[in-house]
Amino acid sequence: MASYLLSLGFFIAICPIALASDPSPLQDFCVADPTGPVLVNGFACKDPKMAQASDFFFSGLHMPGNTSNPVGSKVNPVNVAQIPGLNTLGISLARIDFAPWGINPPHTHPRATEILTVIEGSLEVGFITSNPDNRLITKVLRKGDVFVFPVNLVHFQRNTGHGNAVAIAALSSQNPGVITIANAVFGSKPAIANDLLAKSFQTDTKTIDWIQSKF
Ligand SMILES: *[C@@H]1O[C@H](CO)[C@@H](O)[C@H](O)[C@H]1NC(C)=O
Repeated sequence: MASYLLSLGFFIAICPIALASDPSPLQDFCVADPTGPVLVNGFACKDPKMAQASDFFFSGLHMPGNTSNPVGSKVNPVNVAQIPGLNTLGISLARIDFAPWGINPPHTHPRATEILTVIEGSLEVGFITSNPDNRLITKVLRKGDVFVFPVNLVHFQRNTGHGNAVAIAALSSQNPGVITIANAVFGSKPAIANDLLAKSFQTDTKTIDWIQSKF
């Protein structure tokens, strides 16, 4: 046992550790003080004696998001930016509204696994496994169905119904982050060289210029 622990300790000491969710808190709570001058992993804590119910509260998730945009969906996040009391707690959520045939385009959350519940309408959802398989795991969900998107994997949703669709997503980070693939690849500032992208996507620079102009 002792030697096992010793070798485990050695393993931990020499290997960089990647955590798939936020680290555990070491106190009851650490309400974010976004104005704090200290840069830490998360936000500095407000004096706990000054914590109020409002630090742990958000209102308005019953309101539909405005889906009048090119993708036909709207994400309303509720993370540490909206609820400072979520700081260090490793959890957050979002409401996602979809117009008929609206999509939440392929994206990843660098710091969170997502568990999504359809509360209205129906959604086609999917995620893609890592290289080399790049297997698409996909399903059509109806009201009340729940689906998991493992941390970091590229995933998407699309409203396949005729009416609106609504989902609530819970995420295993106070600050899950989002990388929308199209925006990152075609909308970076400054832009990635068009000939590099043309070779990556096995197309020509004119096509890349046209796509880049959309972002
Ligand atoms: C929804 O967004 C569109 C496009 O930005 C805007 O024209 C419209 O006024 C918005 N609707 C509401 C109800 O806010």
